[in-house]
Amino acid sequence: MAAADKLMIRALAGEVLPVPPVWMMRQAGRYLPEYRAVRADAGSFLDLCYNPDFAAEVTLQPIRRYGFDAAIIFADILLVPQALGADLTFVQGEGPRLSTVTSAEDFARLGPVEAVHDTLGPVYETVRRVAGALPKETALIGFAGAPWTVATYMIAGRGTPDQGPARRLMYGDRTTFDALIDRITDATIVYLIKQIEAGAEVVKLFDSWAGALPGLEFGRYAVEPVRRIVAAVREAHPAVPVIGFPRGAGGNYAGFAEQTGVNAVALDTSVDPVWAAREIQSKCCVQGNLDPLHMVLGGEALVTATKQTVEAFSAGPHVFNLGHGITPDADPANVDVMLRAIRG
Ligand code: CP3
Repeated sequence: MAAADKLMIRALAGEVLPVPPVWMMRQAGRYLPEYRAVRADAGSFLDLCYNPDFAAEVTLQPIRRYGFDAAIIFADILLVPQALGADLTFVQGEGPRLSTVTSAEDFARLGPVEAVHDTLGPVYETVRRVAGALPKETALIGFAGAPWTVATYMIAGRGTPDQGPARRLMYGDRTTFDALIDRITDATIVYLIKQIEAGAEVVKLFDSWAGALPGLEFGRYAVEPVRRIVAAVREAHPAVPVIGFPRGAGGNYAGFAEQTGVNAVALDTSVDPVWAAREIQSKCCVQGNLDPLHMVLGGEALVTATKQTVEAFSAGPHVFNLGHGITPDADPANVDVMLRAIRG
């Protein structure tokens, strides 16, 4: 089936469908026993990301189990910093640890944009394998972190509650901060274009910490780098839709699609669907935004919230998703409950 005929791509192009296409952030993840088994065979999380056999397998697992309308390639937003020369490890139960970039000297040690393909080659191979193995109606999503969110990890060397280290560099050494954002932006452009050339039919930019940017800086660091990525990807591949996810953007969600040129905006859990239908969906496709906690609790509350979300977005183009990733404590059976509530 041509990409343009898949339900996911039709919704992203603005078509209002009787039943929205559906997939879930982190759909290949620890809530699935079959993921945990492959993860154990692979050894570390990074060994899983860089092994195309294993990465393709876990990408396909949720498609086999649930028949989602889209698969998202199994990788991580922190592979780009690693490809730029950062040391990266994942500490079991604690999350990522990276070497830090907090000065012009640290920045000078990063590698050039052209070198990222040396590290990221296995990701392109995973994309090729998944593209060849998916059911004909399933769309394939490639992704990267948005530059601000990637920079927060490169600067702090780990996740932080308020992105304080990144904001400190932004205010304290604008020149280095801007150079870092530009390097990540350029690397992200070539990375996404290679994913598309390997078979990705949609790309998504995860700006998980957009909400930590002060309002005065949102345009410069959550909008402008994304606008530049969208323009470059579109010039190379005009038919490939781009989804933007400025998580926590609040009022800055309004206008984000026009300002960046993204084809669709992914809404976090906090966004009121009735407001978003009026202010955002009237202009472009929206994706979201069921509270992932429902996937842990299930029951009537899950069914009610799923149906309310579908109903609120029923008059415009919509891709059903959670408002953030499904968590390791989710019950896989609740995904079936959600799908029945959407598809009948
Ligand atoms: O199924 C999918 O969504 C595709 C794969 C995917 C992963 N990470 C796999 C993963 C995607 C799209 C991501 C994006 C990602 N990675 C983001 C943006 C989205 C978001 O969640 O806000 C961020 C911020 C990261 C960075 C990252 N990766 C952190 C902070 C952690 C540790 C926290 C945790 O959940 O353990 C990861 C690890 C990670 N990435 C896991 C998975 C399945 C869990 C690790 C494991 O299996 O041991």
